[in-house]
Formats: sequence, structure tokens, C-alpha cells
Amino acid sequence: MSQAQYDVLVIGSGIAGLSFALKMAATGRKVCILTKKNRAESNTNYAQGGIAAVTSQTDDFELHVRDTLNAGDGMCDEDVVRRIVSDAPERIQELIQAGVAFSQLDDGRVSLHREGGHSKRRILHVQDITGKAIEQALLHAVEIQPNITLQEHMLAVDLITSRKLALSGYRVADTVNRVVGLYAYDVQQHRMDTFVAPVVMLSTGGVGQVYLYSTNPSIATGDGLAMAYRAGAEIRNMEFIQFHPTALFTHGEDRFLISEAVRGEGAILRNLDGEAFMERYDERKDLAPRDIVARAIDSEMKKSGAPHVWLDITNKPEAELREKFPSIFAACETNGINIAHDYIPVVPAMHYLCGGVATNMNAETDIPGLYACGEVSCTGLHGANRLASNSLLEAVVMAHRGAEAVDAYLQTAPEAMQDLPPWVEGDITNSDERVVLTHNWSELKHTMWDYVGIVRTSKRLRRAQRRVKQLKTEIHEYYWNFKVEPALLELRNLIEVADMIISCAMQRQESRGLHYTLDYPRKAPVAVPTVIRRKMG
Ligand code: FAD
Ligand code: SIN
Repeated sequence: MSQAQYDVLVIGSGIAGLSFALKMAATGRKVCILTKKNRAESNTNYAQGGIAAVTSQTDDFELHVRDTLNAGDGMCDEDVVRRIVSDAPERIQELIQAGVAFSQLDDGRVSLHREGGHSKRRILHVQDITGKAIEQALLHAVEIQPNITLQEHMLAVDLITSRKLALSGYRVADTVNRVVGLYAYDVQQHRMDTFVAPVVMLSTGGVGQVYLYSTNPSIATGDGLAMAYRAGAEIRNMEFIQFHPTALFTHGEDRFLISEAVRGEGAILRNLDGEAFMERYDERKDLAPRDIVARAIDSEMKKSGAPHVWLDITNKPEAELREKFPSIFAACETNGINIAHDYIPVVPAMHYLCGGVATNMNAETDIPGLYACGEVSCTGLHGANRLASNSLLEAVVMAHRGAEAVDAYLQTAPEAMQDLPPWVEGDITNSDERVVLTHNWSELKHTMWDYVGIVRTSKRLRRAQRRVKQLKTEIHEYYWNFKVEPALLELRNLIEVADMIISCAMQRQESRGLHYTLDYPRKAPVAVPTVIRRKMG
């Protein structure tokens, strides 16, 4: 057991965590980034379509604001939308300075993708590997910044707050409930370490692994959300789960994304009869916002009983597709599909969490010292449905604003607390029942997919809630009976997240944006956020 001290702890090494750490380190603070796998493993690394920002002469902020508000279906915070949209060009310039080489047209102008819900071409991209290019550039900048320590294979487990310390009998002078550090599990040394710092930035990304089919990699287990919830922070709008309409259909559980930018270049969705069905659902056809397209596909699949629909981009020449979408072309080819000649079998898959840990425009949560940015947070930008390519944008803008706010906080925050108590293990025996973990994980994913999916009903939600409560009890017992390990810690967090999604979905007695329920098919006259917070002892 070791105890290390920093000015700022950052959990996560995706676009949000890395951007924030770089800004913080530039102020001279000592920053430590903890990341639970290899440094590049993140949702960011898989982002394809790009990052939305107004950069062309024919576009303007008002249009980007309007498109974001339209997609958000009455739930966005307009002030937040305006701020993020207008800060975008400056943050894009910083990415370029960090070495992100956005794709260009032959005449030297930046190439802009178009995606669903956008009235203009405004998505900057690096072919179809935008996230990887951003991740590599930011990691390189972090590696040469002396004020940053990056620790891989460190899984943050729980925040340490002054209230938690006081409740466990520790003498705490401060009467305000603040973050004072965290416990993290060293995956390679198999031990729990204590980190002391007056500030923790949660940038742990999304929750895709709570669903059976998701475009998200295995890191997306909602750890930051569960940690914030356990510490008593406010969580919002968890019912707004974005299903991406077009993931490659294969017989396994992995869902490789087929970027919306492919539809932006003219791809058409067809049912198994070959009919271009989107015109029956929305006048914007294949480029309608994601919630509409995902529901349309779900409806076509349910009507016909087919396991997928088709995406048709065979109207484009092979050379152009290979050049514009190299990773998509290759992934399809590996599955025996030449997208220039064959239709692509696609299905919706869980993709993005629009709700999260509630923050203001400075990335501050309601617990002093606790900040959140990126997919784990809920700023009010996305409302009930995120506009495509607005999440990478939100992460860089909020990382910048968060760094300014943390710098100010550190000037008045109390001295870091010394000698925090070590982690208390429930039991130190290794589990001889690991099958409980794999079985419960699989059951959780099936439950969420079957009962808390694209189209919901109150009966399905109640059924899911009963099962999740039962899983929670089983995992709680397991947690106290055996030595902790990553799979247990992640499953415990995912069950917490599932419970939050269901509880917010049950609160919302209307259909809005990504939350569609057959029992309340209409929109309520006023848009009200769903809020949950753990009752503290
Ligand atoms: P992530 O990039 O997910 O980073 C989270 C980090 O936290 C990881 O390093 C992870 O290992 C670490 N972590 C998690 N838990 C812990 C823990 N307990 N302890 C330590 N470390 C932890 N958005 C767009 O705007 N445009 C796109 O084109 C786009 N395409 C996408 C394509 C795909 C396939 C996917 C999955 C998402 C896409 N998105 C896109 C969404 C976007 O990529 C994400 O919302 C964004 O990258 C999230 O960034 P982040 O930094 O918040 O989280
Ligand atoms: C995509 O490329 O379709 C994903 C874009 C996003 O999630 O914003």
C-alpha cells in the first residue's frame, strides 16, 4: 500500500482527461493521470466521424446552436450550447497546434464531413480515424510535459471525501464535504493504493458495457459515474442513452461502428426488400438525427423479423471509399464485405450516454474539489439527444474551462490532508466462484438490452429494475466476501449505472429525444431534467 500526493488527480486518458491535464500542467501544478488499461485505450481512440465546429465561411454559430438545440429536443441548456459552440474554433486551433492533421481537400481547404442533424458540413476529421489521431497527438504532448505523471493499469475505485472520513471516525477539521483523494487498484501489483489531492477530475468516459451490443470498448464501465454517485454528487438524465443507428452486424457481440459520415457521403439505408425506407419516417431521410434513424431501423427490423437492415454506399467508386474511410473499408473487408460492391449489414448499438455527473460550465460538480468532463459529465449541451460529433468538442471545451476553474479553486482550497486511512478490504480470500461475475455480467447486459433499449415500456422497466436490484444484492455480498479484482469492481459500477438508467427512465413519464416509451408516447409540455443523488448517512 503506497500513498502519493499531487495537486490534481485526473482519472482517464481519453480526450477529456489528457486535454485537461495538459492545461493544468501548463499552470505549473503537479498532475497525475491514472488510467486503468494502456494509455490509448478509450472511447476517444475509436472516434471516427470527427469533431464539430464552425470553421467554414458558409456556416455560422447560430446554425450550429440551432442544430444542437433541435437534436436535444427541448432539453439542452441554451447558454451552455452557445458557450461551447462559440469556444469551438479556438480549441480546434489548439488541437492543430498539438499536431492533429485534419484531412484537407485537394485545394488545401479543410475537409468537412456532414452527419445526421447538421444543416451544414461542419465536422473536421482525420479520414475515419479522427479519435486515434487526437489521442496520439495529446498523448505525445503529455509524455513530454514534466509536470504530468501518467500511471497505466491503475483503476480508480472510490473517492475519499471529508464526509466519508468523518463518518468512519477520522478527525476532520473542515466542515465542508470535499474531495481529498482517492483509492486506486494497481492492476499489475494487485494492491490498493491511496492518492492524496485536493482536486479530482473525473474523465472516465461512458457506460457502453452495460448493454449487450455497444460500439464502446471494454473500458466503458461507468466507473466515474458510480464513484461520483457513491460520494453523493448529483447525477442527471441517465435515461438518455444514444443508440448509434449503424453498427456492423456480425454474429459476435462486438459492434464495429459504420460512421454516420458514410451516410453524409450519400449512403442509403434499405430494408431487406431493398426499399429506401427512411423517407417514410422523416423528411431529412437518412440524415435525420440519430434517435429517429435508430427507431426507424428498430421498427423495420421488428416488422420484418430481419436481424439487420442494409446500408448502401455502392454508388461511390472503390478508390474514393478506400481513401475516405480506410478503417471502415478494412473492417468490412475482414468480414467479407467490399462496401463499394456489397450492401453493409447494420444494426443499432448502444453508443453514447447523454446524461452523467451534473456540472456547471466550469466542470464543477456539487462536491468541492470534484470536477467532471467528457462523456462522464452532463453539462446541458446534449439535452435529450446528442448532435453527432458534439462530444469530442464538448470534452475539449470543458477541459479548458475546467482547468481555469481548478486553478482558481486551488488558490483558496485547504491544504491537502496527510496520512489518509488505508483501504479496508472486506475479505482477503481469492474468489473460488468467479463464474458469478461472468454470469451476472452477462445477465445484466441482456437485461438492459432487452428491457431498457430503444423502445421502452413501464412494464419492461419494472422487470429490469427487479432483476438489477437482485444483481446488486448478489454483487454486494460478493464484494465483501472476496478480495477485489478489476472485473468485480467494474461489474459493481455497471450495476450501479444500470440502476441509475432505469430509475431515471421510470421518472420520465413522456417520450422525448432518446427516451421513447409506448406508455407515454407524447412529449410533456415542459422539459424537466431527471435527477438522482444517493442519500448519505
Ligand atoms: P474516453 O475517451 O472514453 O476516456 C476514458 C478514459 O478513462 C479511458 O482512458 C479509460 O481507460 C479511463 N478510465 C475509465 N474508468 C477508469 C477508472 N476507474 N480508473 C482509471 N481510468 C479509468 N464523438 C464525436 O464527437 N465524434 C465522433 O466521431 C465519435 N465517434 C465515436 C466512435 C465510437 C466507436 C465511439 C465509441 C464513440 C464515438 N464518439 C464520437 C464519442 C466520443 O468518442 C466519446 O464521447 C469521447 O471520446 C469521450 O471522451 P472521454 O475523454 O470523456 O472518455
Ligand atoms: C460517427 O462517426 O458516426 C460517430 C459520431 C459521433 O458519435 O458523434
